Amino acid sequence: MSDKAILEFRGSKYEFPVVEGTENEVGINIKTLRGGSGLITLDPGYKNTGSCESGITFLDGEKGILRYRGYAIEELAEKADFLEIAFLLIFGELPSREELHKFHEDIKHESHVDEEMKKIINGFPKSAHPMGVLSSLTSALIAFNPTSVNVASDEAMYNAIVRIMAKFPVLVAWTMRKKMGLPLEYGDDNLGYVENLHKMMFKRPNKEYQLNKVVIEALDQLLILHADHEQNCSTSTVRIVGSSHAGLFASLSAGISALWGPLHGGANQAVLEMLEAIAADDGDTEKYMAKAKDKNDAFRLMGFGHRVYKNFDPRARILKQAADEVLGDLGIEDPILDVAKGLERVALEDQYFVDRKLYPNVDFYSGIIYRALGIPVEMFTVMFAMGRLPGWIAHWREMRLRMEPIGRPRQIYIGENSRSFKTLDQR
Ligand code: CMC
Repeated sequence: MSDKAILEFRGSKYEFPVVEGTENEVGINIKTLRGGSGLITLDPGYKNTGSCESGITFLDGEKGILRYRGYAIEELAEKADFLEIAFLLIFGELPSREELHKFHEDIKHESHVDEEMKKIINGFPKSAHPMGVLSSLTSALIAFNPTSVNVASDEAMYNAIVRIMAKFPVLVAWTMRKKMGLPLEYGDDNLGYVENLHKMMFKRPNKEYQLNKVVIEALDQLLILHADHEQNCSTSTVRIVGSSHAGLFASLSAGISALWGPLHGGANQAVLEMLEAIAADDGDTEKYMAKAKDKNDAFRLMGFGHRVYKNFDPRARILKQAADEVLGDLGIEDPILDVAKGLERVALEDQYFVDRKLYPNVDFYSGIIYRALGIPVEMFTVMFAMGRLPGWIAHWREMRLRMEPIGRPRQIYIGENSRSFKTLDQR
C-alpha cells in the first residue's frame, strides 16, 4: 500500500498522496486540499513549501551536499568549465566534444548586441547601480529580439537560449565599462567564453589585453559555483514570471532584480563592505558579532546563514581554499581575508551561531576573490547574475516544458470586513 498523509480537521478526514523524489525527499501532494476541504496552507517565505518537481539541482542542507544534474559540485568545480556546466544544467547531460563546439559556435554567432542598445546604457548616470542597469538592459533586449519563444519548437527554444547566453556577457561587460568610463566594445570570437567575458570587461582602449590563466580559472570556478541553487528567490522569480508565459528575457530581468537584494545575491557586496568596515574599526570582530546577535539591531552578519544549509555551504568551503590560492598566485596580500577568517573562527564557536546552525555561505569568500581579480564591489552581484544565468534558463525551460500552471499563491485575508463607502464630507 502506498503512503498517504491524513489531515483531520473539525471532525472530517482528508487523505493526500505522498510524492517521493529520487533522493528520497518526501512531500505531501496537497493539490486537492482546497477543493476538498476549503482549507489552504499558510507558509510565509515558503519554508515548507515545494513549488515544483525539478530534475536540475539537488541540495541537502543538513549534509552540505550540492549536485548539478547528479554531479558533485566539488568535482564539477575542479574538472569542468562554465560553458560545459551551462549546457549540463540547461539540457540535462554533459555535452560531447561536438555538442560543446556547436554550442560555443552558435553563441559566438549571436554575440553582437544591437548598437542602439548603447543609447539606452548611455542614458544611465554613472552612479546607477550595475544591477539596475543589467536588469534594464536585459529587459530592453526584448525590443531588439522581438520574436516570442515558441516553446513547442526545440529549435526556437535552443535559439532563444543561445541568444541570451551570447548577449548577456556583453551586457555584463558594458555595465562595468559604463561605470568605469570605458568605451563599450565587443568581444573576441577567438577566445573561450569566460576569457572573452574577461577581455570584454577589462580591455583598455590603448593597451594590449594580457590573458592571465590564474584569473580566468578563478573566474570560471566562481561562475560554476554560482550557476544554480534550485528554488532560491531569483530562480523562483524567473519561474513564476515565466509561468505567466512572459518571455525568457523578461523572466530573466525579473530574476536579476530579485538577486539584487542583500539577503540574496546582493550579500556578496554587503559582505565586502562589512569586512572593510570591521577592518577600519581596528578589526573589532566582537563588536560586529554583538550587533549581529542583538535583536534590536537590524545588522546581520552578512555571508552567514542560509535558508537550506544548516551545515557548511560546500561552495563556501571551495571558495575559502580558492581565495588563499588565488591571492597567493597573484601575489596579493589582502588584510580583508584575515578579517574574514577571524570572523569565521569566532562565529563558528559562538553559541548564538551554533544554536541556529549559521555557517558561512557562498557569498562570504566570493567577494575577496572578485576583489583580487580587480572587479569593483558594485559589480559583485552582477558577476553572481552572470554565473546564475544558465541556472535561471534551465529552470525556465524545465517549467515551460513541463507545462506548469501559472504561479498564483493564495492568502489568508486579514483586512476589514465589508463596509459602506463614506463620501468625503462624511469622513
Ligand atoms: N546574522 C545574524 N543572525 C542571523 C543571520 C545572520 N546572518 N542569519 C540568520 N540569523 C538568525 C535570525 O535572526 C533568526 O534568529 P531567531 O531564530 O532568534 O529569530 C535565525 O537565525 C533564523 O534566521 P531566518 O532569518 O529565519 O532564516 P532564513 O532562512 O529566513 O534566512 C538568510 C536565510 C540567508 C536570508 C539569512 O541567514 C540572512 O539574512 N543571512 C545574511 C545574508 C546573506 O548572507 N545572504 C546570502 C545567502 S547565500 C547566497 C544566495 O543564495 O542568495
